[in-house]
Amino acid sequence: MKCSAEPSPYTALIERLRPAAEQVVQHVYAPYSKVKVGAAVLADDGEVFTGCNVENASYGLSQCAERNALQHAIAMGARPGSLNALLIYSPAAEALPPCGACRQVMQEFMPPAAVVISCGDGTEPMIWSLSELLPQPFTLNA
Ligand code: THU
Repeated sequence: MKCSAEPSPYTALIERLRPAAEQVVQHVYAPYSKVKVGAAVLADDGEVFTGCNVENASYGLSQCAERNALQHAIAMGARPGSLNALLIYSPAAEALPPCGACRQVMQEFMPPAAVVISCGDGTEPMIWSLSELLPQPFTLNA
């Protein structure tokens, strides 16, 4: 008998990226907000790059997990535009939607159809395309 419950098309992606995002959360530096966030980015060659939030006593210098992961990917040689999926993990009940600054940095390096997933511990993952998160991005013709 066939099982009728279809797995989500995102199950494999979540299984690939969530452990990486959970692992990097161990390195969060967030003594001020105490909010812990990890992010994992998938390149089209299958490579995964991670980042976590790193705060600063001068609060505005704090870096979000998503931007840290994307900039880590670029620094390691990933091609802009090759980053097709990003997963955010926060060890809290609620999944966190990414902040506006991170959405703008996502659009610099990810295509509009890229998948962004946010996972918490107590809810179903939230799943968007980048174009849903940032419908009218600011761009310059380089
Ligand atoms: N934070 C992220 O890492 N990603 C976001 O998209 C939103 C906020 C971090 C930044 C700061 O260290 C803490 O969460 C509270 O804002």
